[in-house]
Amino acid sequence: MSTSPDPRHTSTGPADTLPLRDGVEIPVIGLGVFRSPAGRATQQAVIAALDAGYRHIDTAAVYGNEADVGHGLRASGLDRDQVFITTKLWNADHGYQPTLDAFERSRRQLGVDHIDLYLVHWPVPGTREETWRAMEHLLETGKARAIGVSNYMAHHLEELLGYAQHLPSVNQFEISPYNFRSRADVVDLSRKNGIQVEAYSPLTKGRKLDDPPLVRIAEAHGCSTAQVLIRWALQQGLVVLPKSTHADRIAGNADVFGFALTEDEMETLDALDENLVTAWDPTTTP
Ligand SMILES: NC(=O)c1ccc[n+]([C@@H]2O[C@H](COP(=O)([O-])OP(=O)(O)OC[C@H]3O[C@@H](n4cnc5c(N)ncnc54)[C@H](OP(=O)(O)O)[C@@H]3O)[C@@H](O)[C@H]2O)c1
Repeated sequence: MSTSPDPRHTSTGPADTLPLRDGVEIPVIGLGVFRSPAGRATQQAVIAALDAGYRHIDTAAVYGNEADVGHGLRASGLDRDQVFITTKLWNADHGYQPTLDAFERSRRQLGVDHIDLYLVHWPVPGTREETWRAMEHLLETGKARAIGVSNYMAHHLEELLGYAQHLPSVNQFEISPYNFRSRADVVDLSRKNGIQVEAYSPLTKGRKLDDPPLVRIAEAHGCSTAQVLIRWALQQGLVVLPKSTHADRIAGNADVFGFALTEDEMETLDALDENLVTAWDPTTTP
C-alpha cells in the first residue's frame, strides 16, 4: 500500500480548496445529490449546504435534479462564481457530438453560463476516446472550467493517458476506509498524473455507520461516525462528497475541522478495507 496521506491537507473549512490544473481551485467538501429527490428536497438541501458553508455541489444529468441544484444556487443569494458546480455526462450520451449536446442540456438545466467541473460519469467501452475529445473541446472553449472522469479504474486511466491531449483534473470514484486499500493502484496512478481524487459514497451509503471500530473512534472524539469518515477522507487528501437531504446532517457533515484523527486512528480505519462496493463495480468494466 503506497498511498499515504496527502501533505497538502491544511483545510480549515468546507470552502477551503485544493488546486486542480489550470489554476482552478476545488472546495474540499461537496454536497452529493445522488438520490436526492427532484423538487423541493434537493433545492432545500442545496440551500442548507450553502448556508452551512459548503461551496461545492456534485450532481449529474442522470440524477434528474440539475434544475433544482440551479434553483438552490440562485435562492442562496451567493454569486455564481462563489459556488463550484460539478455535473456529469451520462452513459447514453457518449460520442463526440452527443457529449457536446448533453453538456448543453445540463448547462441549461442548471441555468448557468459555464460548469466548473464536467465529468465522464462512467468509462463506457467503445467510445471513450471520441468522448474525451469532446470533453477537451468543452475545456478549450471555456464552457467547462475543468474536465475529469468518474469510475475510471487503473486500466481505464492507463488507456486515457495514451490518447488524452489534456489530462483529467479529477477522478471520482467510491472511496471509504472500507475500500481505500483495494483502490490504492488507481489512487496512486491518479496522483502520479496530477489528477485529484474525489471520494463518492464516503459514508458507505449509511451501511457502515454502526461498525464498532468506527463507533469507538467517533466516541473518542465526541463526534458522529459520519464525521469520522469525512475527516478520514480529508486527511487522505481526497475531495469528499457526502450526501444528505437533512439540514442538520448536512451541517454536521461539514463540521469536521475542529478535530484531527491520529496516525493510529487512520491506520485502524485503513485496516477496515473489505473491498466494499455499495453500487456498481467499475473494475469489471473492460
Ligand atoms: N460518480 C458516480 O458514479 C457516483 C456514484 C455514487 C455517488 N456519487 C456522488 O457521491 C455522493 C455521495 O454518495 P452517496 O449518495 O452514494 O452516499 P453517501 O454520501 O455515502 O451516503 C448517503 C447516505 O447517508 C445518509 N447520511 C448522510 N449524512 C448522515 C449522517 N450524518 N448520519 C447518518 N446518515 C447520514 C444519507 O441519508 P439522508 O439523505 O436521509 O440524510 C444517505 O442515506 C452522491 O450523492 C453523488 O453526488 C457519484
